[in-house]
Amino acid sequence: MTYLMTAPANQHSNPMRPPSNLAARDIETLIHPYTNLDAFRASGPLVLERGEGVFVYDKHGKPYIDGMAGLWCTALGHGNAELVEAAARQMGKLAFAHLFSGKSHDPAIELAEKLKEIAPIETSKIFFCNSGSEANDSQIKLVWYMNNALGRPRKKKIISRLNAYHGVTIAAASLTGLPNNQLDFDLPIAGILHAGCPHHYRFAHAGESEEDFATRLAGELEALIVREGPDTVAGFIAEPVMGAGGVIVPPATYFEKIMGVCGRYDVYMISDEIICGFGRLGTMFGCQSFGFRPHSISVAKALTSAYVPMAAVTVPQAMYEAMLEESRKIGTFGHGFTYSGHPVAAAVALKTIEIYARERIVDQAARKAPHFAARLAALGQHPLVGEARGLGLVGGIELVAEKASKRLFAARAGIGARVVAFAEEEGAILRSIVGNVVSICPPLIISTDEIDQLFDGLARALDRTLDWAKREQAFDP
Ligand SMILES: Cc1ncc(COP(=O)(O)O)c(C=O)c1O
Repeated sequence: MTYLMTAPANQHSNPMRPPSNLAARDIETLIHPYTNLDAFRASGPLVLERGEGVFVYDKHGKPYIDGMAGLWCTALGHGNAELVEAAARQMGKLAFAHLFSGKSHDPAIELAEKLKEIAPIETSKIFFCNSGSEANDSQIKLVWYMNNALGRPRKKKIISRLNAYHGVTIAAASLTGLPNNQLDFDLPIAGILHAGCPHHYRFAHAGESEEDFATRLAGELEALIVREGPDTVAGFIAEPVMGAGGVIVPPATYFEKIMGVCGRYDVYMISDEIICGFGRLGTMFGCQSFGFRPHSISVAKALTSAYVPMAAVTVPQAMYEAMLEESRKIGTFGHGFTYSGHPVAAAVALKTIEIYARERIVDQAARKAPHFAARLAALGQHPLVGEARGLGLVGGIELVAEKASKRLFAARAGIGARVVAFAEEEGAILRSIVGNVVSICPPLIISTDEIDQLFDGLARALDRTLDWAKREQAFDP
């Protein structure tokens, strides 16, 4: 078989990044997630070498402020010696042990106890896994398992939302409400439904208040459940603030209304706290920011400040009892991963949570949030920005070609990627996500000066993008 090479391996047409041998090797060896694989052959990678605090450095020693905390995850920034030490100590003591067939180890037990202690909801047990996708896949399996134990085998459908992001494994990608995660992957699987997205700026009717919008969405959810048959709808999953789907902050009363609907039809409510957990919104968990109490939460990312992969799912007592029943019947609980509760990850998570408490990281994030919000809101005045939105230390700016009509740029303009490329030149790493949104999610340890530096870089990038857009006539529909 021969393969068509779309560009020579050593060609780097992106003038913003000088060619390097590593870049050439990368192009010939790696598949990059969430990358236009064809365009990438010309642009090549940005190869990072080290990190310190909120900064990362490329091969040439150029510093960048890590404006996305990696991928919404390095809450404690880079080079935290305590986390490195916790990992090294655990590796030296017991590098690996599993939790299968009744085996156990201290770090997993201690971490499960700690998570039960800090969980914002009634929690009986913790199930460990390694990624957000695995956590949400596990949530679905646990709900199905529970409902089989409870003698309601038809109650299996899970409702997610348009623009949601819950991961990329087969079930999680089905929950995810974004076309690029499903197109030509033959997804979603059967039994996954999508309710409306709580984005007032884009989806409210003319003149509809946030409150009325939230009421309408809750009514639509209820109508969906009734239409499908309440005896067939098992669960509802939601991020408190949607991340990868556009940094969407719901109306203040949205979750209260949604929880009312879930309660009426005995629908198990899962809060996907994979971005919002551990202080991102200025509260320990995202559901606390909106005052709702789900049945379960999924956590990952900041659980270990991303120093090693780990995720977890909380299991309430009622579900645990159903699992006991199934396990008795079948002879085992047939789910789990080799690395569920990995001792090194658990040791790092314990140290991370200790640091959150000792350094009052969540309070500090809440204290810095108004400054972050003010800098974000100021970007809303920029001619390219239709809406600047956020909560706590996460934000997004939605780029529009025309403010009054909210008209988006044509996809061919690649406007978000352009802002991100200019920001990279300006020394700030950001991310272009769906809906022409540029997301901002720095490590929680960022100082107010560093917040200024980040937003100054982004403001310059927006100005340069505006010049570019005028020059290239990118405003044309
Ligand atoms: C809210 C949310 N859920 C799930 C995931 C999936 O996590 P992972 O990439 O670790 O599978 C992500 C990843 O960004 C996320 O933001």
